[in-house]
Amino acid sequence: MARVFVTWRLPGSALDRLAATHETAVWAEEAPPSAGELRERAAPAEGLLTMLMDRVDAELIAACPRLRAISNYAVGVDNVDLAAATARGIPVGNTPGVLTDSTADLAVALMLSAARRIVEGDAVVRRGEWLRWEPDFLLGRDLHGATVGIVGYGRIGQAVARRLGGFGCELLHSSRSGGTPLEELLDRSDFVTLHLPLGEDTRGLIGEEALARMKPTAYLVNTARGPIVQTAALGRALRGGEIAGAALDVTDPEPLPADHPLLEAPNLTVLPHLGSATRATRAAMADVAVDNLVAALAGERMPYCANPEVYERAS
Ligand code: DGY
Repeated sequence: MARVFVTWRLPGSALDRLAATHETAVWAEEAPPSAGELRERAAPAEGLLTMLMDRVDAELIAACPRLRAISNYAVGVDNVDLAAATARGIPVGNTPGVLTDSTADLAVALMLSAARRIVEGDAVVRRGEWLRWEPDFLLGRDLHGATVGIVGYGRIGQAVARRLGGFGCELLHSSRSGGTPLEELLDRSDFVTLHLPLGEDTRGLIGEEALARMKPTAYLVNTARGPIVQTAALGRALRGGEIAGAALDVTDPEPLPADHPLLEAPNLTVLPHLGSATRATRAAMADVAVDNLVAALAGERMPYCANPEVYERAS
């Protein structure tokens, strides 16, 4: 029985399964643990189950001498210092696959929401400003038949493409392994949707230059990670009418404070990182995260490991 610290409660019954086989402590406060609290609670643990808002950096890893496994409750592992974990031979688990469809659904919902002015329309009705049906009231643009540029063509990017096939969209995609060059994709797309992991090569990828390439009628959708888009540049592009709008499920910073200047930009929809937020998907993520942790603590290979080189080195 290993000592495990879980940094937040999870939906579904996966944590019961973990607690049945390991000495499991779950953070139960209103707010997430601070860096200091995380260090203190994680220090004696052999296994950690972390959230995407926890910074699992080299300092934290060094403060946990008995640590044998980190399981991150997300597909993205940009909050974990993979190099530091790998240097200690600690596998880092993630949760790919189970959240692909929910995230792709939300990306399409954001395209429709931004282009068909759904949030704006709801607000108009609630404010009592909808006086009559009018031929030119709240006109948007169609998603069907549009050219959509998918930046990052892994599981989620491909799932978005499958959905948009049903809308009769012309699809472009750009990824590390090929496709349409990013510049051409930005020039031609009516919607640009981001599906890349955050890393040093993608941080700030969509900045002033990229936004200036987009059509003034085009929309930017981000369901990947906030720092892939340069927040200040996006605000300027929206205010200057360089692009038609943006719909973001993720932001930099995250959470975005209510008084952040970006929120004053026109034609912007912002959600609180809901890509995988369905009951079924979040429970499935919990199952995968627990499976990863249980396997690693039993000395087995994690089913989903973000630094598989730890196994290569060990064999
Ligand atoms: C992830 O898993 O990385 C998402 O951003 C949250 O579900």
